Amino acid sequence: MARKVTKAIFPVAGLGTRFLPATKSVPKEIMTLVDRPLVQYAIDEARAAGITEFIFVTSRGKSALEDYFDHNQILEQTLKEKGKDDLLETLNATNMESGAIAYIRQHKALGLGHAVWCARRLIGDEPFAVMLPDDVIAGEKPCLQQMIEAYEETGGNMVATMEVPPEKTSSYGVLDVGDNIGTSVRARGMVEKPKPEEAPSNLAVIGRYILRPSVLYNLNQNKLGSGGEIQLTDAIAEDIRNGVPVFGYKFDGQRFDCGSKAGFLQATVAFALARDDLREDLQKYLHDVVATGQAAQ
Ligand code: UTP
Repeated sequence: MARKVTKAIFPVAGLGTRFLPATKSVPKEIMTLVDRPLVQYAIDEARAAGITEFIFVTSRGKSALEDYFDHNQILEQTLKEKGKDDLLETLNATNMESGAIAYIRQHKALGLGHAVWCARRLIGDEPFAVMLPDDVIAGEKPCLQQMIEAYEETGGNMVATMEVPPEKTSSYGVLDVGDNIGTSVRARGMVEKPKPEEAPSNLAVIGRYILRPSVLYNLNQNKLGSGGEIQLTDAIAEDIRNGVPVFGYKFDGQRFDCGSKAGFLQATVAFALARDDLREDLQKYLHDVVATGQAAQ
């Protein structure tokens, strides 16, 4: 049986340039969908999947992210005194156990593969998850939990995959697809950001991975890949060449690319419409805007 996955790496050291000027001082992962920061969605998904150790790979300018996980005792006390039990409950649900979170610094934004490699000493010799908080996935069963259940049957490495329009392959890692095994496919290879005419399929990798430590050994070579960055995809592809199975998991759920403005807006609307306290007003507003075609002046 595959070894239990209890550690997750959250690479959050990117520059977040698509959200400038906001990301000049606000980490992208702290930006909120309705009232919860992106990172809270990722943490909740990880906890639901049984993760107990949370490793953040951060960089300069991300201190708001570290502060977010501190207990805010003054706020807790004030809410208690005012009898605001609902808010207190919301706040307490975000508290993390002391020692459960570690922060490692990526000193230069050399790519996702390099960010993951920065956490190698905290991972040691066991399988681990990687979660990109800007991929937010809504679904009945959290995506990482689905993947861990599938991984417990298959072992190897597992990446979350979804079909994308063929003209979009150059924004993703893409699988060379082998055999279908239920909700998973066995990958024969993986390519980072292929041009549509060179893409082996339109099955793209999104920001959830379960990886063996061999991927970290592959990253030891610090090889530059697509875009002059050290790519996680290349290190996983090397495992395939070394005979380690890699599975693409077709998750059940809706993925929002919150690293892009369009995806972030769509997620905001979708998550707001899912809320009983906001649905009615927002529906009416959206209906009126669409009907009149009127934008903000
Ligand atoms: P992105 O490709 O979305 O880059 O990184 P970015 O810097 O976050 O955003 P843009 O493109 O400039 O707007 C995907 C994930 O990999 C992390 C990012 O923080 C994000 O979670 N990453 C990327 C690192 O941690 N380090 C890197 O060197 C590169």
